[in-house]
Amino acid sequence: MKNVIEVKNLKREYVTTKGWISRKKESLMAVAGIDFSVKEGEIFGLLGENGAGKTTTIKMLITLLAPTSGVCNVLGYDTFKEADKVRGQINFVFGGEMGVYRRLSARDNLLYFAGLYKIKGEEAKRRTEELLKLVELEAASDRLVETYSKGMIQRLQIARGLINNPKIIFMDEPTVGLDPLGANMLREIIRKLKAEGKTVLLTTHYMQEADDLCDHIAIIHKGKIVAQDTPKQLKVRFGKNGADSTLEEVFLCLCKS
Ligand SMILES: Nc1ncnc2c1ncn2[C@@H]1O[C@H](COP(=O)(O)OP(=O)(O)OP(=O)(O)O)[C@@H](O)[C@H]1O
Ligand SMILES: [Mg+2]
Repeated sequence: MKNVIEVKNLKREYVTTKGWISRKKESLMAVAGIDFSVKEGEIFGLLGENGAGKTTTIKMLITLLAPTSGVCNVLGYDTFKEADKVRGQINFVFGGEMGVYRRLSARDNLLYFAGLYKIKGEEAKRRTEELLKLVELEAASDRLVETYSKGMIQRLQIARGLINNPKIIFMDEPTVGLDPLGANMLREIIRKLKAEGKTVLLTTHYMQEADDLCDHIAIIHKGKIVAQDTPKQLKVRFGKNGADSTLEEVFLCLCKS
């Protein structure tokens, strides 16, 4: 399987102004030189504590943020210099954020987003119905999104993230705030995407979820990757009880300092 994501010595520094009066500049290396690659068709988990640099990494991968230095390639293209070649082939879902219109129905949302990708007419309708079915929103498809539960909105966001039939879908905390049933339904959708041959890169703070879903995991701590492997090998390498350890134990061991 070929690599569809390649990241080498990738860095991103944020420079912020400290206060309104002193105007002193402060810089933070949010991503401090990371390396990883993701193979076509796998589910890859990026785990790390709050502020570790996960969202910053995803933003660089999805062409929304310029790297300070390093290699950031998606589908063989530089996500900054060749952003236009990448954008049509990927999509993303950020958990807990509104990426859909509340005053439209699910169906109208999807038709609208299809239009943004220049998918029109019958093709847009077909794709919309297919996705409503995938995320199990057919029965509610004509209701305004403002009447939806959090889980329904999150499923609609996934459908929105698939409208352009992306080769890679990036999901930043896709199950945040969902009840166990909603989270489970979402994980099933993620598995279906993998079965269709799509590549998924996700972040999550739920270790069991990462363990269940991911083929490979990279653990990022203070902007650096401290370990990457299959969930099983991470346990063997870093867990107190070897393969019988939990991923949470591995995480706590690697991120405690
Ligand atoms: N726009 C910004 N300007 C300045 N600093 C930022 C900016 N965005 C993020 N940071 C800082 O960069 C670091 C990494 O943030 P990032 O959002 O990538 O972390 P994260 O791993 O996604 O965390 P979380 O799990 O809380 O979502 C943090 O210290 C954060 O405060
Ligand atoms: Mg984040």
